[in-house]
Amino acid sequence: MAESNAVISQIGDLAEAGEKMIERLRRKAFLPESRKGLNVRTGIAEAAQLLGCSTNRIRMAEEDGRLPPPPAGENGRRLGYSIEDMLHMREVLGASPARAPLDVPAMIAVQNFKGGVGKSTVTTHLAHFFAVHGYKVLVVDCDSQATTTTLFGFNPHFNITREETLYPYLSIDPTQADLLYAVKRTPWPNVDLIPSNLELFDVEYELAAAGSDGQSVLAARFRKLKKGLTDLARDYDVVILDPPPALGTISLAVMQAANALLVPLAATTPDFCSTVQFLSMMDQVLDQLTGVGIEVDYSFVRLICSKFDGNDPSHEMVRTIMEQTFGPALLPVPILESAEISHAALRMMTVYELEKPIGTPRTHKRCRANLDEALGQIEQLVRAGWGRSQKVDEDMLVNG
Ligand SMILES: Nc1ncnc2c1ncn2[C@@H]1O[C@H](COP(=O)(O)OP(=O)(O)O)[C@@H](O)[C@H]1O
Ligand SMILES: [Mg+2]
Repeated sequence: MAESNAVISQIGDLAEAGEKMIERLRRKAFLPESRKGLNVRTGIAEAAQLLGCSTNRIRMAEEDGRLPPPPAGENGRRLGYSIEDMLHMREVLGASPARAPLDVPAMIAVQNFKGGVGKSTVTTHLAHFFAVHGYKVLVVDCDSQATTTTLFGFNPHFNITREETLYPYLSIDPTQADLLYAVKRTPWPNVDLIPSNLELFDVEYELAAAGSDGQSVLAARFRKLKKGLTDLARDYDVVILDPPPALGTISLAVMQAANALLVPLAATTPDFCSTVQFLSMMDQVLDQLTGVGIEVDYSFVRLICSKFDGNDPSHEMVRTIMEQTFGPALLPVPILESAEISHAALRMMTVYELEKPIGTPRTHKRCRANLDEALGQIEQLVRAGWGRSQKVDEDMLVNG
């Protein structure tokens, strides 16, 4: 008995040592405060490409005073434009991609019940991709494991309290009537975050303890989250939801609040099998929800291969199986497995936040180009939902 107690208390020691190490890593990653800065700069050629105009158009606006002079470094060298500069440039040159007031903001749940499939990686990269392209984005971390919160540079254990998560709003004794309290600025001027931490899980406990009232409390929570998020979404173009990888209350509430579903999975047999299981569970759950009058409506459902290694024959094989199984619901361009993504994660960043390559410039460039192409597929789906997509419309994606 004594021995097993000693062994059990080891778990607490391990957790404590781990927490200390995370805090050390975090301090190292973004000195000196708890928030990491954003120091991404875009050259004029890339700026023009992002805005869909010529470099000349930008230079002319800088010369005639519509835009401030190009930012210069210490020795007069061109520095490139910050994300703020880019947003201002879009406004002045009429190149904002923002939705029209009547277009419904996209509310994308990035879900799969399997852990480690890349949900948080896709969530954060998708958020920063949309931000680079000039959209206003809200990310909602609904997972008490809080990887997404961490990737935004917050330590969920030290920097986030339960009162800053969805908890006060979803709790059985709510202390908040809307979600405004939970919205945090991030280093990105056009990306906000509702963070999470371990204590968000209390919502699940509370509902389990609600006993026979559970059913009606549950339905009320579903409606409440949807209403809260829909109210917030008015200020954004895109809302991205990272739900917990399980069939719990929060997960269901998120799936019901969303208006689009993106399912990441790796090209491995275990991921394929769990994803099939996830889809079949979702199908049953959605049926049940509809049966009790809770509407779920998605403008698109897509699967995306989230860490594809083209050099691994087994990935090729599983991807072929995925194509045969899911057809056009599988997005044609996969996200490639890249050391750049995992190295950026170690610094609690996305690839879009790196000032310079971590690996070789070639690795970085390839990773970034692939992310732009893969995530661009989702941008097209979102724009198609707004009824004014120009380049590729949903029909083309579906029918090839
Ligand atoms: N395309 C990728 N290339 C390299 N590593 C990846 C890629 N996608 C995800 N990862 C890594 O896989 C792990 C699990 O990803 P994560 O996004 O946390 O999954 P989930 O949220 O589904 O649990 C993380 O260590 C992440 O850095
Ligand atoms: Mg995650």
